[in-house]
Amino acid sequence: MSNKTIGVVGAGTMGNGIVQVAAAAGFNVVMLDVSDAALERGLSTIGNSLERLVQKEKISAEEKSATLGRIKTTATYSDLSSASIVIEAATENADIKAKILKSIDESVGSATVIATNTSSISITRLASKVSNPNRFIGTHFFNPVPVMTLVELIAGLQTDSLTLDVAKDFVATIGKTAIVAKNSPGFAVNRILVPMINEAIFALQEGLASAEDIDKGVKLGANHPIGPLALADLIGLDTLLMVQEVLSASFNDSKYRPAPLLQEMVDAGYLGRKSGQGFYRY
Ligand code: 3HC
Repeated sequence: MSNKTIGVVGAGTMGNGIVQVAAAAGFNVVMLDVSDAALERGLSTIGNSLERLVQKEKISAEEKSATLGRIKTTATYSDLSSASIVIEAATENADIKAKILKSIDESVGSATVIATNTSSISITRLASKVSNPNRFIGTHFFNPVPVMTLVELIAGLQTDSLTLDVAKDFVATIGKTAIVAKNSPGFAVNRILVPMINEAIFALQEGLASAEDIDKGVKLGANHPIGPLALADLIGLDTLLMVQEVLSASFNDSKYRPAPLLQEMVDAGYLGRKSGQGFYRY
């Protein structure tokens, strides 16, 4: 890519992960968030993550500081004006994303690709919020972004092939692997992954086995890196419930109904790692 500046809006878990991998790959990255505290937290997460890599001798201390040096933080949308791609990675809420996309759209040129990192919101619907929907695409990263090598690219109805090529090029440049999925609820990966986790929650609720044994079973019996309930805690139970609800409402098929225990956990505020309590305690 000739223009090595990108923008990322949102300094949370997904946003700061994307910033880290892009800056490590040599991009100048503008990380935007409305809150100074969020920017500080994002930057400090990146610093800690890079420091771990230094300790493990995967990168040098110079590479760490060069990566950090390529990151600029801001709360001002006009700072995104020189970016070739701007990725919106804010909270998973269609109204908030729409507002942010409008602000991005007003700050960049017509050639800039605008992307959204979403686990379940329609790309075609979000594309309609920007003035040039042909240049809009879904870039679905996986958590933790520095570790997970996949980026699912989702073309909406209006996305043109040039935009898909720019996104593929970007994904390859940051050392990740792309798959292309249609704009359909859950896209490809969450359509499969989230119902699998939901089924594990049904299994727990029905007393089939303990949480530990369900996880041990899937880990050892199906060679997953962690069990589905531990993964639920990593993803966040509120996020999982939302994706499962999107699948259920979109397909109107009872096979996608959220496990009642998942709803109960979310109602109780047991959201997984981020709240200190999910299927396990943290
Ligand atoms: N940032 C950077 N590096 C991290 C990290 C983080 N947040 N978390 C773990 N790592 C690194 C560790 O440093 C370690 O590196 P090393 O192998 O070089 O020493 C490596 O990952 C393994 O970590 P650990 O030994 O601490 O622990 P695990 O072996 O359990 O691995 C894991 C952690 C990589 C998260 C692994 O458990 C895993 O792959 N889990 C599944 C993750 C997954 O499926 N994610 C997708 C979620 S779905 C999603 O995001 C989509 C959304 O739309 C819902």
